[in-house]
Amino acid sequence: MTTTLTPAELRRRFPEDFIWGVATSAFQIEGAARAYGKGPSIWDEFCRVPGAIADGSNGDVACDHYHRLESDLDLIADLGVGAYRFSISWPRVQPLGSGAVNPEGLAFYDRLVDGLLARNIQPYATLYHWDLPAELHRCADGWLARDTAQRFAEYASIVARRLGDRVVSFATHNEPWVTAMLGYERGIFAPGLKDRRAAYQVNHHLLVSHALAMQAIRASGTEADVGIVLNMSPVYPATDSPLDAAHAKLEDGRLVRWYMDALFKAQYPEDIVSYLGADAPEIQHGDLRLISQPCDFLGINYYNPIVSSSENPAAPASHGAAVTDMGWEVAPQSLADLLLRLNRDYPLPPVLITENGAAYQDQVVSGRVEDEQRRQYIESHLMAVADVIERGVDVKGYFVWSLMDNFEWAEGYRKRFGIVHVDYATLARTLKGSGLWYRSLLRPAMT
Ligand code: FCB
Repeated sequence: MTTTLTPAELRRRFPEDFIWGVATSAFQIEGAARAYGKGPSIWDEFCRVPGAIADGSNGDVACDHYHRLESDLDLIADLGVGAYRFSISWPRVQPLGSGAVNPEGLAFYDRLVDGLLARNIQPYATLYHWDLPAELHRCADGWLARDTAQRFAEYASIVARRLGDRVVSFATHNEPWVTAMLGYERGIFAPGLKDRRAAYQVNHHLLVSHALAMQAIRASGTEADVGIVLNMSPVYPATDSPLDAAHAKLEDGRLVRWYMDALFKAQYPEDIVSYLGADAPEIQHGDLRLISQPCDFLGINYYNPIVSSSENPAAPASHGAAVTDMGWEVAPQSLADLLLRLNRDYPLPPVLITENGAAYQDQVVSGRVEDEQRRQYIESHLMAVADVIERGVDVKGYFVWSLMDNFEWAEGYRKRFGIVHVDYATLARTLKGSGLWYRSLLRPAMT
């Protein structure tokens, strides 16, 4: 695809007050994993399991963001973004997941938030981006235990009372589908369990914990918006056979409707409950009413469509399609399809695209990284967002995933999503071509 709009023309397709941002998460960039009072998380432990991470790496150093906070904040400011989405590491704040608070941990996030505000960047905080305190998993059954939802609400309250006077938005969870399905059903993410019944009980506890945390955050007196971030994709049948259509409906139920119906219709989808049979979660009276209390925003992370068939019920690409380094199909129209469908089927609060971006194999050549494919990926998805805004969907903002290359979970450091390149030998940062382009969109004087 070729460029059809100049940065200025593209920018003009968005409202004046549109929120432009970049996103990261704590475990993927911070490092300092065993320092300054931080407790271990289930990801610190999972990285030690032989074969769990493709390149055998871990988050001990990551991008060393913890020690490079000030210069990273300057890097964010230089892009001209108005917002930065980051996550808070629960075990950095509460090393054991309950009880004692680590003052150095809270002080770090204080510096981060103050540093953003000093640079005129709005802080968007996520409370849970998968790094559960290991102790809670080891000694209290982690998300398998309903009590963990209560612990999460206590942690949310601690953070909101400390940062809620300056953070503009709190997301409770990042992608509960990933936490539950990849962590407890497929076992390819921490904590590495393979048990469908457990995964759906976890799913339910995550949504209960979201609701309890929302209440705790609001009770802290903060004026910040509170919501949740879901990963979603439209699911298309691979062919027009009735069997593929049935697979697609099931996948859509597991990926989209399970969460959206609970949050916005106070019910779990009947077809999925009956598909689960004895693996359906235990639910207490009143849970769905609790879960469906209004959110101030819905965060959507979108990367690729899903294609469903009997051979592969959840393929990340259709046959022969252009894919990124993750093997994920590049399909901006699918983002538009998804947003239009959600807007039609649910009473949506304002929407934020909290993650969107692409991995490619970048190289620094003479101090430059030419990542034209990533630039086009971002540009084409922004055009899809502009289209749906014009068609009446209330999308308020867009965050590129990611600010910089980082620890890509089970893939380790081999997959690069940043608009800033990180050299893991020297930890040097280099703004990529896509980053220069994003900056030219946000700071026209810099072109
Ligand atoms: C999302 C995660 C994020 C990153 C991207 C590529 O599922 O939220 O941390 O790994 O995928």
